Amino acid sequence: MPHPETSARISNLRKVVELLATNSEKLIAEWEKLPDDRYPHYGTDIPSHEAYNAGLVIKAAMGSIEELTSKPTIRLLEVAWSHINARCLHMAAELHVADILAEGGDEGVSIDTLSEKIGIEKHKLTRIMRALASDHIFRQVGPDSFANNIISQAMVDDEPVRSWVALQGLSNFSAVDHLPATLLDPVAGPSYEVTATAFNRAVGTELSFFDWLTGKVPASEATSYYRPATQHPRYVAHANGAAKANQAEKDEELVFRPEEALFNAAMFGSGRVTGTSHVYDYPWGDLGRNATVVDVGGGVGGFAMQLCAAYPSLRFIVQDQPAMIAGAPGVWQETQPGALASGRATLMAHDFFAPNPVKGADVYWFRHVLHNWPDKDATRILSGITPSMGPSSRVLLAEHVTFPPFSSSPPSPPSTTTTNPKAAAATTAPHSPAPAPSPLLANYGRASTFSNQDDLLMLTLFNSIERTPAEYQSVIEGAGLRLVKIWPCRSPVSIIECRLAGVSD
Ligand SMILES: C[S@@+](CC[C@H](N)C(=O)[O-])C[C@H]1O[C@@H](n2cnc3c(N)ncnc32)[C@H](O)[C@@H]1O
Repeated sequence: MPHPETSARISNLRKVVELLATNSEKLIAEWEKLPDDRYPHYGTDIPSHEAYNAGLVIKAAMGSIEELTSKPTIRLLEVAWSHINARCLHMAAELHVADILAEGGDEGVSIDTLSEKIGIEKHKLTRIMRALASDHIFRQVGPDSFANNIISQAMVDDEPVRSWVALQGLSNFSAVDHLPATLLDPVAGPSYEVTATAFNRAVGTELSFFDWLTGKVPASEATSYYRPATQHPRYVAHANGAAKANQAEKDEELVFRPEEALFNAAMFGSGRVTGTSHVYDYPWGDLGRNATVVDVGGGVGGFAMQLCAAYPSLRFIVQDQPAMIAGAPGVWQETQPGALASGRATLMAHDFFAPNPVKGADVYWFRHVLHNWPDKDATRILSGITPSMGPSSRVLLAEHVTFPPFSSSPPSPPSTTTTNPKAAAATTAPHSPAPAPSPLLANYGRASTFSNQDDLLMLTLFNSIERTPAEYQSVIEGAGLRLVKIWPCRSPVSIIECRLAGVSD
């Protein structure tokens, strides 16, 4: 007769394995429905709702199995040392390893060739590649050769995705290193100012992250351990704006930081990684003909471009800081030719802390904007919209919504309907997400890793936050709005709909 704790562990492991098996079959059934030319989990494809829901349970189950079956000391050390794996991936992304391996196809590329192309001594490089391949990123296909697997393939010829990975290896990595000292600092620790962060401490600046990012520095200060950052002219143009790029050419001793081009390429691409579902998981078609969407803090308008392609009757106004807007026309011309000339899309320099000049728009869209700002600033940003809204205007926030792994509510099985279980209950009760089935963690554990990582990155860089539903509600109500609904999305990033307080839907 096993010890009672062992019996409980056996029972839990059986339940989790059962969930894993059932949901794997659900996922396989969805894959089998795909047409011959479609490959699951690839590029900008979004999964069916059933496949997405099954994927959440599978990921949560993998985390539970790890907890139930690992030797605790080894598991602790694996996580404590995971900065080493992250560092290897940063290097691989920065040095374009996936693109180089793609040249060798399934047979891969020899370590000699890879070493020659990226400049790391081959025996050391073999160890880095072995670690990544053992972590299921890249594939070792022979004693001395490596190829891409389905994970690393996602960086091939995809500058935005590669940039997003590589960006983590620059100032973000250093900033996280300074998080403990900042949290324990008697002044910075309790502060929620955007200029009192671990990032400020790490890079030795009093500027906020965005002011630092867009500033120019002497070339000698813009060095990094890897070769020059993204040179793809498309993203350099997006990133810097034509005016700034021209100025840089004239002003040879001052250059943009390597982070800037990577950041802007990454933002442009992040929409394709986590944002494609937002085009399909919100009823944009119900807005009516010629409805106007204002993309506030929209960068060059990456999301507006996606929506413009899918909904020909919508009109767009993209607002951002002047330098960003200066670089936007070329991107629109390339991606949505004719939209600017026909007046369907307009670009507007606008400081989102000021009252919004566009009155009565149907939608004020904010993607990954509020998460950069602590609560008081986030409320100020939304307060710039409230006076411009009409009775049918809505504010839509595309952000991670975080939930605790603990729930006192009874577990419910994941939905097999067309909703995301994480947000299904939120459609009727924004504060109570449907917890994952027992014995999985209520917030789907491993499946919420990326949202939790982003939350802590926001803390590190901005003293800001990826909010819970209650935290959104507080910020939203502070601006004279009310939280209407958290829309189920097939993405870790949800859409939070708000209306004017006191105005019914
Ligand atoms: C994280 S990026 C998100 C960009 C875009 N919404 C997207 O999802 O791709 C935040 C954006 O806020 C813009 N921003 C920062 N401060 C701003 C301000 N005071 N007024 C307008 N835009 C601002 C930045 O230039 C940047 O484009």
